[in-house]
Amino acid sequence: MDGTFFKLYNFDGSDSDCHIFGLTFFIRKIKILKVKSSFFCTNCGTESPKWIGKCSSCGEWNTYVEEVIEKKTIQTEKDKAWKDPKKEKLSPKKLDDVTALNTSRIDTRDNELNRVLGGGLVYGSIILVGGQPGIGKSTLLLQLALKQNKKILYVSGEESEEQIKMRAERIGHKNSNCYIYTDVNVSQILKESNKLAPDIIIIDSVQTLMSPYIDSTPGSISQVRECTGELQRYAKETNIPIFIIGHITKEGGIAGPKLLEHIVDVVLQFEGDQHYAYRILRTLKNRFGSTDEIGIYAMDMHGLREITNPSELLISPDDDHLSGSAVAASVEGLRPLLLETQALVSPAIYGTPQRSATGFDLRRLSMLLAVLEKRCGLPFGQNDVFLNIAGGIKVTDPSIDLAVVSALISSLQDIHISKKICFAGEVGLSGEIRPVSRVEQRIQEAGRLGFETIYISKYKAELLPKKNFGVEVRMLSRVDNLLREIFS
Ligand code: TYD
Ligand code: MG
Repeated sequence: MDGTFFKLYNFDGSDSDCHIFGLTFFIRKIKILKVKSSFFCTNCGTESPKWIGKCSSCGEWNTYVEEVIEKKTIQTEKDKAWKDPKKEKLSPKKLDDVTALNTSRIDTRDNELNRVLGGGLVYGSIILVGGQPGIGKSTLLLQLALKQNKKILYVSGEESEEQIKMRAERIGHKNSNCYIYTDVNVSQILKESNKLAPDIIIIDSVQTLMSPYIDSTPGSISQVRECTGELQRYAKETNIPIFIIGHITKEGGIAGPKLLEHIVDVVLQFEGDQHYAYRILRTLKNRFGSTDEIGIYAMDMHGLREITNPSELLISPDDDHLSGSAVAASVEGLRPLLLETQALVSPAIYGTPQRSATGFDLRRLSMLLAVLEKRCGLPFGQNDVFLNIAGGIKVTDPSIDLAVVSALISSLQDIHISKKICFAGEVGLSGEIRPVSRVEQRIQEAGRLGFETIYISKYKAELLPKKNFGVEVRMLSRVDNLLREIFS
């Protein structure tokens, strides 16, 4: 029957007449849904009425997912309440005649989250919060719900009401207008939401949701896509912002392939090392603001605490004058962040020397070691090398190269580098020290935190304004200059 299914559901409280094979039944609490679904190849888009393992068109395996292509329900007037019956017919319009969206935003009462969202929460937006299990996504959003004086609907398919209550008590904030609902049926959730009319909806998590129109299990690609689509339509029609939590899969994508990221308005990623207290909230996509912002939190006994001054916490005191550590003046998003890089270089016991890096790209570490070996003649080839960025923070900013190189040489030669010195520069393959972005901001932050000297690249340094930053700015052109400046 060409992928057309008739399903019977009884989740509605209304009366309806139902005619099947000429017989008239009067059935209470039964509604007929006509759902047409089909299978599509996620690789080439070919349609098939049933699931097949290998796509006949592109030859890929396991790419077929079920999708709803037509959905007709016999609905009561009450069901239709959230659908706009007077929807205008669309026709092309001059851009000049279109009025801009009302840009007023909801203050989330969390400065870090406001900043990451681009200045607050936009009405009718869908925000996907991704992150590995146990990182603190539920805590972040429950905390948001409890800090408000607005009506919140917190839907959880992962935890029971009692568990959520325990967490709320741990967090300590109180909001008498926060409603908890533990269901996973998306139609039912939206129906309850209609009755409650909340200001913000939080869904924990999208992988537990299920749409009655699709047969596959919760968490499967077609369920996740259908449920998110349903929530998105609801958010746009009612103007209620919806936060959706999504777990990250082993491959690093949110809810399997990156299928959700184009449906939603904002994608936030919550990351950090579970064994450290620090967590970074990063924007991967934002239709209403910049993607350069980050929010920094620390997880403690009473939930997540906002960290307004991260640099001060990430640098350990310089009491013991130990070798192998150097401070990097890095920038995360738009914020300057001073970080400690630590290296341990020790003679290799086994044949092949080991290389290990935490919070830093291992291939980049190998590249820096090769540059030091070739350009400065330093014998890293016979040594094991371990590198760590303190605080469990993962850094992608190339400007920390200079600090990494300094920490490596410091450990190899067992010479201590003062914690009053910091570094900002990228190291190129010829051993040159390349300029980095936002140098002025980095120097200012170093000055503010009481550093005495900052080393930067000599190139393009003439663009820096001639003013007193409260810190001595020294310039280097090559890594061998670094050896002479600091380690001689
Ligand atoms: P959770 O929000 O459940 O993570 P997710 O929803 O991303 O899976 O947070 C899990 C961790 O946070 C858990 O290991 C306990 C810790 N935690 C605290 O340390 N302090 C707290 O106040 C709370 C609520 C949680
Ligand atoms: Mg959770």
